[in-house]
Amino acid sequence: MKAVEIKDGLYWVGAVDWTVRDFHGYETPHGTTYNNYLLMDDDITLVDTVKYDFSEETLRSIRGVVEPSRIKNIVVNHIENDHATRLDRIMELSPDATIHITDRGKKGLGRFFDISRWKMNVVKTGDTLVIGKRTLIFLETPMLHWPDSMMTYVKDENLLFSQDAFGQHIASSFRFDDEYIACQSMHELEDSVLDYYANILMPFGQIVKSKIAEMQRLGLNIDMIAPDHGIIWRTNPDKVVQSYLDMANGKADLSVPIIYDTMWHSTEMMAMPILQGIKDEGVGCQLIKLRATPMSVAVKEFWRSRGCLIGSPTLNNMLFPTVAEFLTHLRGLRPKNRIMGAFGSYGWSGGAVKEAYSEFVRMGLEAFEPGLQVLYKPSADDERACYEFGREFAKKVKELHQKY
Ligand code: FEO
Repeated sequence: MKAVEIKDGLYWVGAVDWTVRDFHGYETPHGTTYNNYLLMDDDITLVDTVKYDFSEETLRSIRGVVEPSRIKNIVVNHIENDHATRLDRIMELSPDATIHITDRGKKGLGRFFDISRWKMNVVKTGDTLVIGKRTLIFLETPMLHWPDSMMTYVKDENLLFSQDAFGQHIASSFRFDDEYIACQSMHELEDSVLDYYANILMPFGQIVKSKIAEMQRLGLNIDMIAPDHGIIWRTNPDKVVQSYLDMANGKADLSVPIIYDTMWHSTEMMAMPILQGIKDEGVGCQLIKLRATPMSVAVKEFWRSRGCLIGSPTLNNMLFPTVAEFLTHLRGLRPKNRIMGAFGSYGWSGGAVKEAYSEFVRMGLEAFEPGLQVLYKPSADDERACYEFGREFAKKVKELHQKY
């Protein structure tokens, strides 16, 4: 796409990845964008670069505004491969440019490229760079999303280049939130924010809170947030910041996904009356079968909800493999403020439900005990027990929800 002027003399020169559906294992049904930005000032400055296969596209956009050889500064907010894999190509065409980057970013970049000939300026929080009539302020944000990460604030424009934070995996011809909302919907945009936070930033809630507090302490008023993925927030920047704070503080819906898998449908047969019991307690509920649902969607629905039930048949005395994979993945995301329970069928001696509870302990999540196991196939009595299990779990979910 052509460059888009997002403020006077300030251009989006990124690339839209319409077709990516597997983003390092994360399902991206709406594609994504790799955003980078060009600041036309006395010292022309490029903020971030793009993924390898999109470097020529972004160079075309840059050339629509200025020859790359005139770029004097390149701010590298984040070195992950989707943002910096063709930095060498950009540097080849912008030989006078100085890279501004965190110390960890510089060390990381040295693992990807021969940086010995590049001019590098290591920056820390509060450091500034005057590029003409604009002044940039750097803010280190380690672990949002990698140790190297930082954000760049444009003073006087009240504009934050936030790299991964506040982004969404959305491919769109629109660049701004208000345009996207008018054509699609606020709900879709919010859902993409939730999806991104759940799958990328869930482990870092405390850092999210402390960095937002730091920005407020530094007096960084924000009128526009330009992330490295998706839509630019020019109408609702406060809304997405508040949404991040809410998620970091444990906000969730009063709902329960039943995330399960099944071999011969017995565990699935248990899930149905459990769902009914949860619903009859006035708590929203949905079934998510893991072999029918991308992992990232299951993670998103887990994160949306206050409680979660795991259903797994026992296979060789262990969790069913898809369920084990989901729980292992979830543990890495370090969820908080949720209550869990587990159920499942077994044929020989059981084990899946016990393993699920061990995972809940390892995650440090509140658990509703005991879990529920059924031999081979649920009888009518078992189905009644499942229904009561659902009702009792929903009551516990409501109790926990009141604390938030
Ligand atoms: Fe979009 Fe952490 O990279």
